[in-house]
Amino acid sequence: MNGKIVQNPEHWIDLNHDRVTLDGKALRRPERLYLLLYKPKGYLTTYRDPEGRQTVFDLLKDVHEWVVPVGRLDLDTSGLLLVTNDTPFAERIMNPESKVPKTYQVKTSVKLTEDQVEQLRRGVELADGPTRPALVTVLRDHPKYSHLEITITEGRNRQVRRMIEAVGAKVLKLVRTAIGPIHIGSLPIGKWRKLTEEELRLLGQKVDITRA
Ligand code: URA
Repeated sequence: MNGKIVQNPEHWIDLNHDRVTLDGKALRRPERLYLLLYKPKGYLTTYRDPEGRQTVFDLLKDVHEWVVPVGRLDLDTSGLLLVTNDTPFAERIMNPESKVPKTYQVKTSVKLTEDQVEQLRRGVELADGPTRPALVTVLRDHPKYSHLEITITEGRNRQVRRMIEAVGAKVLKLVRTAIGPIHIGSLPIGKWRKLTEEELRLLGQKVDITRA
């Protein structure tokens, strides 16, 4: 490092100032990766499962950098998951104060009344406090269930399921279709793609990302 041999594996380096070579070749700063994965249901958002169940990392085997999911989706939830190796970016997106909107399509176990939908819009009382107002649109009417689009600006554990339970119904299907300006679009289920520069720019405006 900087012309000296360092043998201590715990030696800190600063890639902005230190020149590090290995066998004469300069080490590069890993490329910043910002990916969008369409998580299917039945995959855990953890690195490894003691019970050996499938995880989102099984779908990211062709990503050759170390990456982490931005937040998590439940085992039974499908949809959009951001994945990155930029941890400050991940923290900013996850911070509830950033108020990044997350949009879900939900199928409920019963047809909700206009009053129940209105309660979801206003905010409901959960064990960890009231929810912020949400945007709720009824997408389809069916005599036996409701198909809603819900946009929330928090990201508490199992929040959408708990909100639906708070108004007396259950979730039959939950899909995250957007995070801020990023939409799942035509990405096939189980696949990932890189975010475009434009998507990163728009997301940056949402959470005040300063990309070094
Ligand atoms: N809300 C939920 O209930 N589950 C998710 O996976 C995401 C949001």
